[in-house]
Amino acid sequence: MAAKPVRILLGVTGGVAAFKAAELARRLMEHGAQVQVVMTESATRFITPATFQALTGEPVYTDAWDTRIDNLMPHIELSRAADLILVAPATADFMAKLAHGLADDLLSTLCLAREIPLLVAPAMNRQMWENPATRRNAAILAGDGIELLGPTAGLQACGETGLGRMIEPPEIVEATLAFLAPKWLAGKRVLVTAGPTYEPIDPVRGITNRSSGKMGFEIARAARRAGASVDLVAGPVALATPWGVQRHDVRTAIEMNDAVMARVAGADVFIAVAAVADWRIANVSGQKIKKTPDGAPPALEFALNPDILAGVAALADPPYCVGFAAESEALEEHGQKKRISKGVPLLAANIGHQTFGLDENELLLIDEKGTTRLERASKAELAARLIEEIARRLPDASR
Ligand code: CTP
Repeated sequence: MAAKPVRILLGVTGGVAAFKAAELARRLMEHGAQVQVVMTESATRFITPATFQALTGEPVYTDAWDTRIDNLMPHIELSRAADLILVAPATADFMAKLAHGLADDLLSTLCLAREIPLLVAPAMNRQMWENPATRRNAAILAGDGIELLGPTAGLQACGETGLGRMIEPPEIVEATLAFLAPKWLAGKRVLVTAGPTYEPIDPVRGITNRSSGKMGFEIARAARRAGASVDLVAGPVALATPWGVQRHDVRTAIEMNDAVMARVAGADVFIAVAAVADWRIANVSGQKIKKTPDGAPPALEFALNPDILAGVAALADPPYCVGFAAESEALEEHGQKKRISKGVPLLAANIGHQTFGLDENELLLIDEKGTTRLERASKAELAARLIEEIARRLPDASR
């Protein structure tokens, strides 16, 4: 998040999902936000203001007549002091109030008296969500420029399953951060590869590498936050799909190549972060290879895998291509050679060649003009900086 902490006014309304707002407040703060909680009267039946006060270190407001605010205008003061209002959970009743401009308690009043963006995460029973009145209200909110985050489908507190469940706090945080991020790639299509590939030897064995996929997933997330529509072609990794990203799981380099080639048309940017196996086994055994009595090792034959990045860069009308490289020495010289041999305008070289699995990294960007160093930072932060650097280099960049 930016150097100046973003100030989020977290509105909590009276649904059973209100208990999740405590985790939400916590997670927003972990991302550097200042959180001020305002609750409706019915929310206090599900979770107490004390919980939020203890978590946020800020007094919690519920009453439009709160005398703690000198001028007796908490609705004005609180919304002036915030950068954004996030209502989670938002009940059907609260959505109806927002849609019709009602202001009969503190939270609805300050939503009406705001000049800042409003995001709401609906939470209700599926019949309430499907009710034509709620459908109409949701459409009015969207038309008024209010961001609806969810809901999603799943098991509900009432025991039913269906649409109406609040999206989980990590997803609300992600959607909020995405909302706040500068839109470097608005309207662009970005294709990313990430993770290792797995090249089978027989049905139970194979060759892979230690790529965790973290950097590629962070880049996909950052591109999405920057306004792009993102396809992420992922090798076998144990990572959650970034919010709003289209993920396509593959195993082998050939599958990764096919998945990329099927989606590259119309892409504006291709970022090859995957650690693709250069070789695959040419004589894959259909059955598990057994030990032989004489203990002789099996003879594996190798075949060269397609170079996905070079293949995309060689297309007739290629997207802006970004490669990654791990070099152990002469970073700039080797990086520049690799960039040219792959035919790509930008190469990001990992500084320190063993970064697999780590949460931090440092990059040297190499293009035709020279180098730009992205100082050591978390992979998430580096990914955001890289996206900005890429956006500045796009052919139609106005900056
Ligand atoms: N790459 C690819 N397809 C391959 C091999 C690599 O798309 N079959 C991409 C990677 O995703 C990465 C870049 O090319 O963006 C890395 O190039 P590579 O030649 O594999 O370089 P290194 O991994 O640095 O290895 P080496 O220097 O040993 O060639």
